[in-house]
Amino acid sequence: MRQPLVAGNWKMHGSRAENANLVTALLDLLPAGKHAEILVCPPFPYLLETGRQLKDSGVQLGAQSVCAEAQGAFTGEVSAAMLKDVGCRYVLVGHSERRQLYGESDALVARKFVAAQSQGLVPVLCVGETLDEREGNQTLQVVSRQLEAVLSVSGVRSLARAVIAYEPVWAIGTGRTASGEQAQEVHAMIRARVAALDATIGGSVRILYGGSVKASNAQELFAMPDIDGGLVGGASLKADEFARICAGAG
Ligand code: 13P
Repeated sequence: MRQPLVAGNWKMHGSRAENANLVTALLDLLPAGKHAEILVCPPFPYLLETGRQLKDSGVQLGAQSVCAEAQGAFTGEVSAAMLKDVGCRYVLVGHSERRQLYGESDALVARKFVAAQSQGLVPVLCVGETLDEREGNQTLQVVSRQLEAVLSVSGVRSLARAVIAYEPVWAIGTGRTASGEQAQEVHAMIRARVAALDATIGGSVRILYGGSVKASNAQELFAMPDIDGGLVGGASLKADEFARICAGAG
């Protein structure tokens, strides 16, 4: 039985005051006694303070990116050890905005995945196709390539300590969500690929869906057999909306 995970990716939003209000409201609204795991990923400068506010709440802390290098002269970068030091348990790697806007290649994403795990962080490996790639019937090929880049460096067993997030680029921030069936098709392919290498890990790895997840569509998505929760952008900035999405994950 896979424990659902609902992650809020705050992206480059918020302030100390806004974050404090958001977390206070969220902790108040989160349904008690649910078994889904909840994660929030604030921008770097707010990790420590948000983590303190989350202490003992059961809500996990994650970062949005990590440097592939361990330490040294890498101006502007943040290492996995630093993220661990400020209380992160998770870190996103390979988000499409990092791939598209900051040129992160499959190979770099794989190195970030390794760096995260080397410090005991759980990487959330983001994969997904663009609209052109979907319309060119390349979805499965693109997602497989992104997955293989990590598998070839890290091996399938590393996925026992990782989460995968399928985020079709055309559904991110556009209000256009993949249907349950569209997402399920890709999730099933990812799981089958992992299971072909290791049946146990294929059965246990959590695969999240991301891309315009809202309270109104979360339940349809989460009801799919291979969708184990969500990676939520815009809707994670609204406490009531995010709490309702979390409630929908079981
Ligand atoms: P939206 O939920 O705003 O579409 O963003 C999805 C996302 O990129 C989460 O990482």
